[in-house]
Amino acid sequence: MKKRLLSGVKPTGRPHIGNYFGAMKQFVDMQDDHDAHIFIANYHALTGIQDAKQMHENTIDMAIDYLAIGLNPEKTILFKQSDVPQVTELGWIFNCITTMPYLMRAHSFKDAEAKNKDINVGTFDYPVLMAADILIQDADIVPVGADQKQHIEYARDIAEKFNRTYGETFKLPNDHIIETVKTVPGTDGQKMSKSYGNTIPLFATLDEITKAVMSIPTDSTPLADPKPKYKEDTVYMLHELFTPMKKLNEVEDGYKNGGYGYGDSKKDLIENIDAYIAPMREKRAEIAKDTDMVTVILEEGGKKAREYAEKKMEDVRAKVGI
Ligand code: ADP
Ligand code: TRP
Repeated sequence: MKKRLLSGVKPTGRPHIGNYFGAMKQFVDMQDDHDAHIFIANYHALTGIQDAKQMHENTIDMAIDYLAIGLNPEKTILFKQSDVPQVTELGWIFNCITTMPYLMRAHSFKDAEAKNKDINVGTFDYPVLMAADILIQDADIVPVGADQKQHIEYARDIAEKFNRTYGETFKLPNDHIIETVKTVPGTDGQKMSKSYGNTIPLFATLDEITKAVMSIPTDSTPLADPKPKYKEDTVYMLHELFTPMKKLNEVEDGYKNGGYGYGDSKKDLIENIDAYIAPMREKRAEIAKDTDMVTVILEEGGKKAREYAEKKMEDVRAKVGI
């Protein structure tokens, strides 16, 4: 029996290479030997996007993105979170066994609150809905970037609490976080994130790649000098993701021995990112021509995910007595 893999990404705009290496690439790499359920987290995105047209466009764009990176709907159940409204029902049931102080310890809540005291209840309750997404599908493994680690722990805790309260019902999920790509740096050196304006979009054009890479700050070591701290250089860290091994060794030697400047390194990086991205960018443009097909894929995936969730909810409703 294949293990069930589940993950989702919010449709909050163009995905970037941090989303790709940290999470989305794993969905593709793992779809052959897992029973994969991948979704578009549009309920979660409602915490920030309150414009129907934008939500609709982002959602279909995200489905196209998933297909363009190589998710295969014959292997992976691809769906919109909102096609499984049972998750909101389960989220409510979980709310009633989850305490406020426990949710107030979530990093995501603390970060959001530090930026704006007026956060909505959805943002506060975000980890509970995420637990419902994971547990309703009986997921074994959840591939994500490092910033989501605590959310998976919340899902495990909530599963344990429910099982203790009502009897064995939910599997305890595990995260799947790859050490080398768990936090991809953005063009300013901090974690790459849509909310920091430091991204390299996954389907970027050559111009966009060039602009982003050229904006990366570097130190003032002259071209001719060795750069012993190259492992801390954002340009080098991005090379590690995009540059084939043989060429990467040459880049490393250049940094170690001198005679290879940041300008050279950026030029090589731009070329290598473009070579890596171009096939996905072209595939994306092809898929985008047939959005009706994309809609059908989502509907079919939604139906399968919903059927599974409904069966699970029949058990849950009986256990809680409603
Ligand atoms: P963003 O911070 O850009 O809004 P999301 O919250 O939509 O990203 O994250 C989608 C997925 O991508 C999650 O699994 C998250 O952990 C992963 N991810 C986001 N940014 C990075 C990054 N810089 N490095 C590695 N993984 C990331
Ligand atoms: N919180 C995740 C993110 O920001 C999105 C998400 C929602 C998710 N539900 C999930 C990820 C369930 C994995 C499993 O990217």
